Order: sequence, then structure tokens, then C-alpha cells
Amino acid sequence: MIRKAIIPAAGSGSRFYPLTRAQPKEMLPLVDKPVIHYVVEEAVNSGLDEILIIVGAGKEAIINYFDKHKLDDKYMNDDIKNLPDIYFIRQKEQLGLADSIKYGKKFTDGEDFVVLLGDTVYKSTGKNTVTSELINDYNKHNKKTIIGLENVNKNLVNHYGIVSINMDTSTIISAVEKPDVHIAPSNLAITGTYIFNDNIYEYINNLKPGKNNELQLTDAINMLCLNDTVYGSIINGHRYDIGTMDLWLKSFLIFLKDNTKYSYILETVR
Ligand code: G1P
Repeated sequence: MIRKAIIPAAGSGSRFYPLTRAQPKEMLPLVDKPVIHYVVEEAVNSGLDEILIIVGAGKEAIINYFDKHKLDDKYMNDDIKNLPDIYFIRQKEQLGLADSIKYGKKFTDGEDFVVLLGDTVYKSTGKNTVTSELINDYNKHNKKTIIGLENVNKNLVNHYGIVSINMDTSTIISAVEKPDVHIAPSNLAITGTYIFNDNIYEYINNLKPGKNNELQLTDAINMLCLNDTVYGSIINGHRYDIGTMDLWLKSFLIFLKDNTKYSYILETVR
């Protein structure tokens, strides 16, 4: 059974300057809650009850957010106090996503675990969460590594990890981080929900800096594919990437449109 989730939230947020000069991008709002709150809810609603958030310099607001506040009962429907304990660890230096995952090794302690990115939010189109469905697929596939995928437009392949997949067996053949469109093996993108076994740490430890001179999780997955079976699974929902200014604004408007309390505001905008 999978119980543990790692949520990396240690990136610099440079694409959001000046918004992120004094607050982490994971604290940007999606209408009435910060992005990180949705990510933690996705984990909890998927049955994960041990959560580690990887933070770094300037990310203290994320830690403070999960404290219990006197005003919670008065102002919040989604009660922070009912969330399970959340652990935090600081990435010492910004060396990339793969490096940040390494800080989870003691926390996962040999167990298989989910990784959910701190800047990616899901809305399921089924009755289970996107992550629960991925966990179901992982159980069907003998508990091997499994990666959530979605089709993206060709012009977006250079924003994401892109995989080559055997459609008959759902096995990933290779993965490449943010390829140029003319070398992209497909338009199937890594959405940012992964289930790993403990062996991923070994591949991360052997990484050399990749795209943008950072240690890339996609490169570790690519190496893992050479030695073991890695499955890909198209997610059963919509992924909202909060990683860039335009995608965050678009996500905000979609969440506003779907919000029962505040959607009327859109009709009043001239
Ligand atoms: C990260 C991963 C990438 C993945 C993406 C999903 O990129 O490195 O493989 O497709 O998240 O949002 P980042 O958005 O941190 O640049």
C-alpha cells in the first residue's frame, strides 16, 4: 500500500518575477486557496497520509501556511487542522528537481511513494482523484514505477518531459526533458505525478546535470527505463500547470469560472 507523498516545492519561481520576490510560487492563489493547498488535498484525497514537502530558500510561507490558526474555524471550509502531519525539509542548494527528491530518501525509508509537483493541480474527470487512478494502475502493473502522462500540443513539448511509449504494453521506452519539437519522440508529456520505488534514488545519485544545467528527474527515469519496466498512464483528468505566468492566469480563470461562490464576478467584468 502506498502511504507516502513527496511534494517538491523548492524551485526559484523566476518565471513569476516580481510576484515571487517575497512569496513562493506555490503560495500563488487559485481563487481562494494557494496552489500548494490543492496539491496537499490531492495527496490526502488519494489516501496518502504521510506528506513531505521539500522547500528551500525563501519558501518559509509554505511551512507557516500549514500551521493551525485561531481564525481557521471562522473562515475556512477546508480545515487545515484535519490534514495529516506534514513534514518539511530544505533543499540546501537549487540543483534541480531530481536533487530535491533525494531529500526524501529517509522519509520514504524503502517504501514506494508518490511524487506530486508543488506547482501542478488536477481536476479529475472520473470519480477518483487522478492520483488514486495512478495508484490503481501501479497496483495492476506489479508495483513498478509509473508516470502520469497527457497529450500536449506540439508547440508545448519543449516545456515538459516527453516520453516514447509502447502503446500495446504501456511501457515507456525513453524519456527526454524539454526536447525541441523536431526531436520530440511524441507529444506525450510527463504531468508531474509519479510513483517510484526506492531504486529511483540510485539513478538520481548517478545523474549528471542535464537540461538547463540541472539534475533532471526525467533523465533518471530515462536511465531507469534501460534497466527496468517503467509504465506510463494517461491521467483521468485535467492538469493545471502553475509553472508560468500565462498558465497560472489561465488556470485561475478556469477555477474562478467553476467556483460557486465567486464565478459571478466574471459576468461583471467589462
Ligand atoms: C517539471 C519536470 C518535467 C515535467 C513538468 C510538469 O518541469 O522536469 O519533466 O513535464 O515538471 O509540469 P518544470 O515545470 O519544473 O520545468
